[in-house]
Amino acid sequence: MPQDFTLRVNGKSKTISADPEEPLLYILRDEFNLKGAKYGCGLQQCGACMVIADS
Ligand code: FES
Repeated sequence: MPQDFTLRVNGKSKTISADPEEPLLYILRDEFNLKGAKYGCGLQQCGACMVIADS
């Protein structure tokens, strides 16, 4: 079931509705239109999906 989340990305806040299990990668690409991070190997080996996060 989707839930509302407020994320601050690159200094801008945005509230989105997403399934809690949805990967951050897809939220960044689809909701924030940030296409730099990509799905590569899917095995945590290539780094294509890597982003810097802090809380
Ligand atoms: S897709 Fe994430 S490390 Fe390769």
